[in-house]
Amino acid sequence: MNHTICYISKAKEGLTDLEIQEIFTTTQTRNNAENIKGILLYGFGNFFQVLEGEKKIIEDLYLHKISEDKRHSDILTIINYHIKHPIFEAYSSEFNIVKTNNQLDTIKAYLNQNSLHHLSKNIQRMLNPFLL
Ligand SMILES: Cc1cc2nc3c(=O)[nH]c(=O)nc-3n(C[C@H](O)[C@H](O)[C@H](O)COP(=O)(O)O)c2cc1C
Repeated sequence: MNHTICYISKAKEGLTDLEIQEIFTTTQTRNNAENIKGILLYGFGNFFQVLEGEKKIIEDLYLHKISEDKRHSDILTIINYHIKHPIFEAYSSEFNIVKTNNQLDTIKAYLNQNSLHHLSKNIQRMLNPFLL
């Protein structure tokens, strides 16, 4: 649990609820099997994802699978670095999908710990809908 990657992306136009559900199911099953923690949210035509885990595992996943996935585009990496204190590991033993107030609090804690104030205004603005 020594690395985190966080990004926001634009869902492919016309992506159906069923297709989104498929992404959620694959993500949850595989990440739990690989001991990857974090969260995946879909809203307002965008995905927001946090991955926490072993550096090599999550970098491989991010670079070779997620970034190549045609079901989204305009992938913008917000955070990609070493962490001393994982947030999601402490919060839940599962990779999270469902959007609840509690999970949004965890996201706020994650972004605060990772110095959200250092991020550009543009990125903060893009994250706003997820944090309201
Ligand atoms: C927004 C988004 C997030 C995804 N997140 C993950 C993830 O965290 N873990 C994962 O295994 N696959 C994730 N996927 C799916 C992968 O891109 C890929 O389809 C899946 O890993 C199966 O790859 P494979 O059939 O080549 O083995 C995500 C896809 C999208 C569109």
